[in-house]
Amino acid sequence: MTDTAIRLADYLAPSHLIESVALTFRLAPEATRVLSTIRFTPNRARPGSHDLRLDGENLTLIAAAIDGVPVTAEPDATGLTLPWADLPEGPFTFTAEVEISPATNTALEGLYMSNGMYCTQCEAEGFRKITFYPDRPDVMAPFRVRIESDMPVLLSNGNETATGPGWAEWTDPWPKPAYLFALVAGDLIAHSAGFTTMSGRPVALNIWVRPGDEGRCAYAMDSLIRSMRWDEQTYGREYDLDVFNIVAVDDFNMGAMENKGLNIFNSKYVLALPETATDDDFARIEAIIAHEYFHNWTGNRITCRDWFQLCLKEGLTVFRDQQFSGDMRSHAVKRIEDVLTLRARQFREDGGPLAHPVRPEEYVEINNFYTATVYEKGAEVIGMLKRLVGDDAYARALDLYFQRHDGEAATIEDWLKVFEDATGRDLAQFKRWYSEAGTPRLKATEDWADGVWTLHLEQVTPPTPGQPLKHPKVIPVALGLLNGNGDEVLPTTVLEMTEAKQSFRFDKLATRPIPSILRGFSAPVILERATSPEERAFLLAHDTDPFNKWEAGRSLAKDLLARMVTDNASPGPDWLDALARVATDDSLDPAFRALALRLPGEDDMAQTLHAAGITPDPARIHAARREMADALARRLQPELSGLIDSLAEPGPFTPEARA
Ligand code: SER
Ligand code: ZN
Repeated sequence: MTDTAIRLADYLAPSHLIESVALTFRLAPEATRVLSTIRFTPNRARPGSHDLRLDGENLTLIAAAIDGVPVTAEPDATGLTLPWADLPEGPFTFTAEVEISPATNTALEGLYMSNGMYCTQCEAEGFRKITFYPDRPDVMAPFRVRIESDMPVLLSNGNETATGPGWAEWTDPWPKPAYLFALVAGDLIAHSAGFTTMSGRPVALNIWVRPGDEGRCAYAMDSLIRSMRWDEQTYGREYDLDVFNIVAVDDFNMGAMENKGLNIFNSKYVLALPETATDDDFARIEAIIAHEYFHNWTGNRITCRDWFQLCLKEGLTVFRDQQFSGDMRSHAVKRIEDVLTLRARQFREDGGPLAHPVRPEEYVEINNFYTATVYEKGAEVIGMLKRLVGDDAYARALDLYFQRHDGEAATIEDWLKVFEDATGRDLAQFKRWYSEAGTPRLKATEDWADGVWTLHLEQVTPPTPGQPLKHPKVIPVALGLLNGNGDEVLPTTVLEMTEAKQSFRFDKLATRPIPSILRGFSAPVILERATSPEERAFLLAHDTDPFNKWEAGRSLAKDLLARMVTDNASPGPDWLDALARVATDDSLDPAFRALALRLPGEDDMAQTLHAAGITPDPARIHAARREMADALARRLQPELSGLIDSLAEPGPFTPEARA
């Protein structure tokens, strides 16, 4: 471990590439032997006379050799350097035997034990705790793994190619970086199913759990099958091995991990019983199963050149899992929930001492960069890109990305280049979303005269201490205009803002329009615009954009709640009637209606009051919120019982979204 910063600007291609890796594990809790045979070849992209540096931590080296000649170099605390003078000129084979102790590995990185089973976690830099290896994502290789153990179930990446009493051999034909390596050995039982890919190849699916838990996997399996089908239908991505294994583990640092063909999950994101799991639990399992599965293409087949590019796989995979959940459930509700999380976690991060760009330029410890900014803002940036180029161009760009970079370790530059090549656009300015931290504030004002309505926008990104000043970004502002009757006179149009200040004119309007700005939350910005309660009530009633409809209702409810806390106001008929209209509007998706009836949370209110310079009083907030709920319940009583009857599903409970 070192505390010197690692910089993107210092990137150097690896000195050597790997043609193939063969590993043998002789498992024992405190003395596992790992034998490695690695075929190296000098990297033509980095000519010159280079030592070969292998990463390695907490390893006891038993023996090592180059083409059978024993290595004399000694490992240091972070690895082993094979001096150039000792390396043959062309390709060569490095062999090593090391000893490690999974039972005492409590960092849960590398090979460790959880409840008597062996498992691994190698992202980001855990493989170096398994054996000496160039542990960097731009070194990709096919792996063959032999596991020797008396555990009944022995798993690794790829397909099982041979097995016998006390051993199994797995072969992964797809070149992968070491962070996607996985091994599991334990007393496990499978919940199994099958899948036939779009080209007709059968795939065995297994979810491995501890005996007794096999009855709690049905929803995860169903989610996996739907994810596989969805990725074929939506992105044309087919699964590429004979088997897909998922293992549930109780001790796990992350939520889940996308190891090639062998996903490992924190058990709470796999196991669920309809009797005890909530709707949110099911939605979360579905989303995480999908996320890890989608990594098979966005992360595994195309990986990251270095850890600065983490958002290349995470932002895109989060974006894909959000699309999937929207398709499976409700786009409106999914978008609103994602924005709530973004505002609560990412905006806070982006405005505080931990602010960093979506693609950081330096780090000391990469494990600290698995952040809301890399994941969630990374996904927002892709959503903006899609909105700017349109759905067809997005699909073409993604096809080109998969075609051009399959089997490679790519960068954000590569990613943007496929969009430039697919659309002819210059994305140099757009790239600032990747390099500059901070949430832009977007101030909106309007003019109206002689049938011309003008929207003036101004963007400012507050400075981040220690980082260069911010520049104007490309902001897609989705706009719709309504007339006083609630008719849409301008359907959703994307304004492309590129300057610090910019005005957009709309003429030939019969009456002053009511704008619906930043529809669908089309950019991760803070919109600042003065609106009257009447205008918000109007948008709550008439806006065709579910996000802005919800946002209008939400801000009305918060204003009202604030006045109830500070001035003893009480909920008036306008607000209650508007919500009753939403609740009973059969043209709206029921999940959206349920969400619209949810009151602002007490913590949200406390923050809002605090931001307005009022010291929040939790007891008063609690009491006011109860009063609000009571008033709403009384007002909705006649409609609610009819609504419950009309929405009830006949038959037994199922965990699917509609139910
Ligand atoms: N790569 C993992 C994931 O995001 C880390 O949590 O799925
Ligand atoms: Zn991920």
